[in-house]
Amino acid sequence: MKLVGLVGSVRKNSYNAMLLGFIGQRYEKDFHLDVTDISSLPYFNQDEENDAPTVVRSFKQTILDADGLVIATPEYNWSIPGILKNALDWLSRGERVAAGKPVLIVGASTGMIGTLRAQVHLRQILSSPGLDCRVLPPGGNEVLVTFAANKFNEGGQLTDEPTVLFLDTVVHKFLDFV
Ligand code: FNR
Repeated sequence: MKLVGLVGSVRKNSYNAMLLGFIGQRYEKDFHLDVTDISSLPYFNQDEENDAPTVVRSFKQTILDADGLVIATPEYNWSIPGILKNALDWLSRGERVAAGKPVLIVGASTGMIGTLRAQVHLRQILSSPGLDCRVLPPGGNEVLVTFAANKFNEGGQLTDEPTVLFLDTVVHKFLDFV
């Protein structure tokens, strides 16, 4: 199974990037997770939606070829970062390559809410007609890594055992869902 990862942070030591890296490693026997860079996408421009720049076309093809997506979102001011919204806006227009794709949402924040508000927004965005993704339903499947600074070691490994065990449960539910 081939999954594509998107991370809504370009920060060098991003906890969300670490979380995706950890997921890719820990479940490498179950699926291949290829994290795609969204930082080089230009700002969405409706004038170009049907004749998009090469970098956008290549991004859309990557999504089209994927069996599903894993999105790691930080929470910026109670929502998702602009870089992630920009990538999703490109996916929503022209050929709607994300339609029907299974999506697992995960997130890490340095605070006590663990990206919950951003994840609620992200679910809503992914349900819009242009994206029309099939998101793993909430109800106990919210991967909210709170106080992230205490949960990863210097090598970027998620070391908090209850969080890892919870992640195991949710990832395996996601695989059934896919
Ligand atoms: C934040 N942060 C933050 N945290 C949170 O729990 N709720 C929020 O609304 C915000 N808002 C916010 C806005 C902006 C502009 C920044 C830069 C940060 C803190 C955020 O959780 C923290 O910086 C994470 O480490 C960001 O994720 P990465 O970059 O580590 O993946």
